[in-house]
Amino acid sequence: MASTRSPTSSSAATRATSRRTAMQQGPGVMAACDVWMNGARVGGHVGGYTPFSIELTGLLGTGGANRLVVRVDSTERADVPPFGHVIDYLCYGGIYREVLLRVQEDTFIADVFARPRWEPDAPWSLALDVEVDVGRGLPLSTANGLSLRCVLRDGSRVVGSTEAPLPGPSKTCTLLLEGLEGLRSWELDSPALHDVTVELLRDGAVLDGVTKRVGFRRAEFTPDGFFLNGRRTQLVGLNRHQSFPYVGYAMPARAQRRDALILKEELGVNIVRTSHYPQATQFLDACDELGLLVFEELPGWQHIGNDEWKANARLAVDEMIRRDRSHASVVLWGVRINESKDDHDFYLDTGTLARRLDPTRQTAGVRDFAGSELLEDVYTFNDFSHAGGSHVLKRPRDVTRTRRAVPYLVTEYNGHMFPTKRFDNEERLMEHALRHLRVLDTAAGMPGLAGVIGWCAFDYNTHKDFGSGDRICYHGVSDMFRIPKYAAAVYASQRPFETGPVLEAASIFAKGERQAARLLPIYVFTNCDDIVLFRGGERLGVYQPAFKEYPHVSHPPVIVRELVGDRLPAAQFGPRDRAIIRRLLAQVLTKGFEAFTWLEKLQFGLLLVRHRMSMADAEALVGRYGIGWGSKDESFELVGRRNGKEVVRRRYGADAHADRLSIAADDPELSAGDWDATRVVVKLEDQYGNIFPFAPEVIDLSVSGPATAMGPSRLALIGGCAAFWVRSKGEPGAIEVRVRGSRLDAGALTIMVH
Ligand code: GAL
Repeated sequence: MASTRSPTSSSAATRATSRRTAMQQGPGVMAACDVWMNGARVGGHVGGYTPFSIELTGLLGTGGANRLVVRVDSTERADVPPFGHVIDYLCYGGIYREVLLRVQEDTFIADVFARPRWEPDAPWSLALDVEVDVGRGLPLSTANGLSLRCVLRDGSRVVGSTEAPLPGPSKTCTLLLEGLEGLRSWELDSPALHDVTVELLRDGAVLDGVTKRVGFRRAEFTPDGFFLNGRRTQLVGLNRHQSFPYVGYAMPARAQRRDALILKEELGVNIVRTSHYPQATQFLDACDELGLLVFEELPGWQHIGNDEWKANARLAVDEMIRRDRSHASVVLWGVRINESKDDHDFYLDTGTLARRLDPTRQTAGVRDFAGSELLEDVYTFNDFSHAGGSHVLKRPRDVTRTRRAVPYLVTEYNGHMFPTKRFDNEERLMEHALRHLRVLDTAAGMPGLAGVIGWCAFDYNTHKDFGSGDRICYHGVSDMFRIPKYAAAVYASQRPFETGPVLEAASIFAKGERQAARLLPIYVFTNCDDIVLFRGGERLGVYQPAFKEYPHVSHPPVIVRELVGDRLPAAQFGPRDRAIIRRLLAQVLTKGFEAFTWLEKLQFGLLLVRHRMSMADAEALVGRYGIGWGSKDESFELVGRRNGKEVVRRRYGADAHADRLSIAADDPELSAGDWDATRVVVKLEDQYGNIFPFAPEVIDLSVSGPATAMGPSRLALIGGCAAFWVRSKGEPGAIEVRVRGSRLDAGALTIMVH
């Protein structure tokens, strides 16, 4: 929810008899703090993920310096969730978010909760409940002459408005906007947002104003799946940690927003779980704008502490929901500590609190064992049962063990079951991708399953008990720098074709990289209808997506198992024999002749007899259509087609060499005023424009102008790639980023700060 506060009008300010000052904290001081103003303790906060406000009225002196002291306790205190036992992520101490100083009238708007009411099958019910919390420092009698005005806008068009006097003693006032017409609903592919502005008036003059953005939508988890605006929507998502290399959580709005863009547009998912805590509001703002659903949960990881700890967890639920309950993207509150054991009273309490603060959303609690007591609306389960074999997901009924069917959502899979580095060998990266694909396919074929949210979007820093010894969990479909692994293409290739063609081969086409020098099979993750394959300029044929192997996903991959294509001479072999030869050659090339079953051996023998072929002839056939040594041209071209027409083309080659260093920034421009940051990606590319992964190039970077690089200035390319963020200092000007390798020069790029 974007919440903006209009400045106190100057006329009102001059008339004000008394004004209040408050320190308002953005979403995070990790993990607890105490605050003093000019030597007097004014308050504190426990919990590193949610905002708080501290009243400073009457404590500020004029004419001299005022001293605000924040003492931060960054230790993993046993009374503060998620701490108390081990946790598989880092929480990064310190003040990592914006702090605002709010100066306002003595009577002000403390909170606004705008609740759109919209039933897809009853459009006449369109209405908006706006619950306004008014803060008052003055006695109630001063409520005289106070009123609230509420205006709902679609862009600049006023859709509805209302005004009501502030009722005497009550701090909360609910305004109702009814009979709204012509509003656009919030959909995943057209997430219409509307501004609700609430103003507090005294005798017609504006004392305070707050604007929130809302979306008109209906989101519902049922035993038959998830429904958005009455339409069954299969959820496919990823978990996100909000951490970044070198700086932990302390990243500005642009980087937070970019993650939402990566999830929605690059990875093509429709839901994200903010594992395992409330995340930056700028991230949620972007989710609202992009149409990316959010499952937001309280901080915690497996451990439940003592009563004090529980009270702090309850506080986190309270602050999370108050902060984020107007966000259209948020469809589920996680009110249970991730993967904790049952605790009836505690979870009854967090669930009741959530429903009281926000009756419009369902609740969930992520567990990792079957038969857990379901106090929430949705049974959310981390299903790590796929270990690469044929079993992929548990049956919901076996997990929930409830007599009646209940809404069911898988909230994690893969992760630690198959940690994979972006710079791992090709077969591991491929298997990592296939594990994600198997889950997506199986899930899409399970009626009633709301969806699956994989572990996880990005690699992340962690504690010593987890990760690969370097305190990094390589569980992401992308690395910490948001550079994709092959698994990312599994998600991206499920995007509707209309959002752009995707074609990514999970290979560098170097046979020596594979076990037993077996280049095949090659998985091509694509949303195209089919692909045409060329080798050394020769057209091999058309390859179809593997509908049989992956019958449920929208876009199965194309699996290249043989390189015969359509080339077998029709004059020599009939259609049936051509199919047999392709199949047998696929077996030889992917598994070896030794792997032939007795049936395949028989087919092979009969083929030789039918065509009077010797073993030498058969070997020649393998040589002609297989992969040997010494070919002059080992380049491959993959042409993705839609309705028979080329829409995307990629080239790969066994003859790839390190050709150039490329440099690109996510944003050509940054904003002046506040600090800002954008990512710069440096790639060692081959002559075909692909990452050249295994050259240990070292690069030196320099940044000039009003900015600095976040992280070291000398980096090793890992897996052919490196990235860093450039951080502006708030001043306008031109930033120049220059990158040089030991052998290659990437040149420079310019980023303007306006
Ligand atoms: C889960 C846990 C996640 C992460 C994941 C790794 O059990 O909920 O936070 O640790 O395992 O696969």
